[in-house]
Amino acid sequence: LDNGLALKPTMGWLHWERFTCNTDCDTDPTNCISERLYMQMADVMVKEGWKEAGYEYVCIDDCWPSHSRDAQGRLQADPNRFPGGIKKLADYIHSKGLKLGIYADVGKNTCAGYPGSLGYYETDAQTFADWDVDLLKFDGCFLDRSLIAEGYMSMSKALNKTGKSILYSCEWPLYEWPIKQPNYTAIREYCNHWRNFQDVFDSWSSIKSILEWTASHQKIIVPAAGPGGWNDPDMLVIGNFGLSHDQQQSQMALWAIMAAPLLMSNDLRDICPRSKELLQNRMIIAINQDPLGRQGLRTVMDCDVWERPLFGNRLAIAIMYKQELGGPRRFPISAVPGWKICAPQCNVTQILPQYKELGVQSHQKELVLSVNPTGTTLLTVTPLSGDLRKQHWNDTS
Ligand code: DGJ
Repeated sequence: LDNGLALKPTMGWLHWERFTCNTDCDTDPTNCISERLYMQMADVMVKEGWKEAGYEYVCIDDCWPSHSRDAQGRLQADPNRFPGGIKKLADYIHSKGLKLGIYADVGKNTCAGYPGSLGYYETDAQTFADWDVDLLKFDGCFLDRSLIAEGYMSMSKALNKTGKSILYSCEWPLYEWPIKQPNYTAIREYCNHWRNFQDVFDSWSSIKSILEWTASHQKIIVPAAGPGGWNDPDMLVIGNFGLSHDQQQSQMALWAIMAAPLLMSNDLRDICPRSKELLQNRMIIAINQDPLGRQGLRTVMDCDVWERPLFGNRLAIAIMYKQELGGPRRFPISAVPGWKICAPQCNVTQILPQYKELGVQSHQKELVLSVNPTGTTLLTVTPLSGDLRKQHWNDTS
């Protein structure tokens, strides 16, 4: 969407995977969906280096509104959980130098049963603009799938009509896939990013299924990604309960290769130092935010080798090892298609599992990498001369 936003993949925090629809502020005030949660997250984002690392949007998901609209037909926040209202919350988030995201649904109700925007697109867009909200995540429950495209386009127009720049995060293709192949040209024209596949869960099988879906649809979805519009494989669940450290590294590495929005869903108030360091890793974030703005691909199908072309003739390579038996696997880099950009020589940096300068490597030298089970070895390679990247990339894409 050409609204000047999301020129690089969006970075921030989104409540859903970690906090879901917890509305019980009486017995669980720390974790319930309330203004306090977003204010505390914003405070930590500023204090603990998240903002400085690039994480900017603090985003509300489902379960924020009250069950009925006001007398003017406007959505209103649940008064017990958001006593100050959304405008006040936005002011607070802005005072921290951050941005606020909100959530609504294209259909009659949100997935959790709160009021949906069907019949109120212009009213709701104007309400969000009046509240000074910076991002809208628009869900797709409770609408006939044949009307999904139209609904998402109408909301995009309604947001545009407000005159305020609001980043528009869609779930259009996710809800359309069951009936037809979505029109990604249209989706890119109307949305800043879009969910294609099921919700992420805090488990390795969930991460694997998202990667598998992405790789098997890459011919269709990768060409749609670029500055202003990105494929969204859903939230980062790093720092929660379900992934080992190697699996967390795999999620971070592959989300960078996929040029995915980096929306964390975790508890930043209580996160282990290793997960924090991984999420704030400047080199991985730089791959994610690379100015060339091209999404990477899986280039070797039977084992997981992924590559992303970077600005300045460089390449990021991720080698994931899916087997869950035995120890680290030794992997000759010559098996990676992109390695041919290293003729005659390349400078190689290993970013994961640990940072290591591997120095100048020649095309002939058999560099052997080690990859942990369910982990990922992430590299950048910089050719020292020649311009073979283009050629290579034309061959693979
Ligand atoms: C379905 C979406 O895909 C999730 O990300 C989340 O927004 C839930 N709905 C909320 O009900």
